[in-house]
Amino acid sequence: MEQVETKEIRPLRHGVKGRLHIPGDKSISHRSVMFSALGSTPVHITNFLHAADCLSTVACMRALGATVEELGATELVVTGNGLHGLREPACVLDAGNSGTTLRLLLGLLAPQPFLATFTGDASLSRRPMGRVVKPLSAMGAKIVGRAQNTLLPLTVLAPDGKLHGMRYESPVASAQVKSALLLAGMFADGATTVVEPVTSRDHTERMLEAFGVVTEKDGTAVTIRPVAEVQAPAAIEVPGDISSAAYWLVLASLVPGSQIVLENVGVNETRTGILDVLAAMGADIVRTNERVSGGEAAADLVVTAAKLHGTTFGKDIMPRLIDEIPVIAVAALFAEGDTVIMGAGELRVKETDRLQAIADTFSALAPGSVEAGADSLVIHGGTQLQRAAVPSYDDHRMAMSLAILGAAGAGVIIERPDCVRISYPEFYDTLAGFGGE
Ligand code: S3P
Repeated sequence: MEQVETKEIRPLRHGVKGRLHIPGDKSISHRSVMFSALGSTPVHITNFLHAADCLSTVACMRALGATVEELGATELVVTGNGLHGLREPACVLDAGNSGTTLRLLLGLLAPQPFLATFTGDASLSRRPMGRVVKPLSAMGAKIVGRAQNTLLPLTVLAPDGKLHGMRYESPVASAQVKSALLLAGMFADGATTVVEPVTSRDHTERMLEAFGVVTEKDGTAVTIRPVAEVQAPAAIEVPGDISSAAYWLVLASLVPGSQIVLENVGVNETRTGILDVLAAMGADIVRTNERVSGGEAAADLVVTAAKLHGTTFGKDIMPRLIDEIPVIAVAALFAEGDTVIMGAGELRVKETDRLQAIADTFSALAPGSVEAGADSLVIHGGTQLQRAAVPSYDDHRMAMSLAILGAAGAGVIIERPDCVRISYPEFYDTLAGFGGE
């Protein structure tokens, strides 16, 4: 029988203290490399997230002709060959586990006069790509693949001439869909507008502006017009990832006696839903040292342990905390009373079906604590906890959320724990530094 790797997390015996450097934002790191590859002058990127997902993007951009020099693990210099300087890759492009790499590059490559084929890991090969292939095809892109062009492997062929700008009403609030269409729209024959049901993260729009590309915002609609070239900035400083800070926001809130400072966390308002929800639950989180860096807001977050209570939230806030639901569910498990999460159907198509994964692992670690619906979760706070072995589902955010649950609760054994390398390779070391191992 195959030996499954495991990681044991022990309950913390004392509060967490100190200052933490938070690794670079994953979404912004991806975009920094992709967009720099469209310029013609070197871009010095600092605090780049040196983790598997972003390294998938680096490998793809190299294969497409960009020069990526690694000055250090988190410091890159990326030089492109101009907006029309991407070249046909000689190999299959491997997006690994990364939905952002795949969906944004489908949009970027759809208008190019060459062929590119994408592959990815088992998880990415199950995730829906029709949500970008369909609108890109309506613009004139030629993308073919498995399951009527909706699943990996996918091949992007040269289109017949330019793509056509269009107005697209997206059924999902997704920054990956929006970004794919905006990138394709830069090369189209007219304006491209994406309308979302609720505004998703706007890192693409902000970073494009730093490259001299204007997008126009009108409510939940964003419009881009064709551009002739981009002006790459000399430098991009990536702020810390609030999605990585989230684990420590919850751990320090839950473990009595804790007080930590999370340094240089990106607090772009399209990403701060977790701060709003934790505040509504009674958490004590204070922003200090607020600043703007590379068009993105950042701050230090001071977290002090507090007594949490249940809350209710739904689809309007969902895009602002979509990746934080597993760890918010952990906070809810320790809160007083019930927490009701609605409008969370998108969780079913993340790296794993996260609604099912939360329901199954919470049932093992706190029997009777959770009820999952088609797009909802009800979590009964204060349910008796027990130590158990649970799978990570090879999903980095499930593994880290379960580790926080175990550290704040009765301990946990995580099967296949290494998936944290996708977004936060040093996560377990940091937790061990707090005494959680
Ligand atoms: C991301 C957008 C979100 C998020 C993902 C990163 C991005 O996905 O879940 O982790 O960088 O644009 P969706 O756009 O599919 O919601």
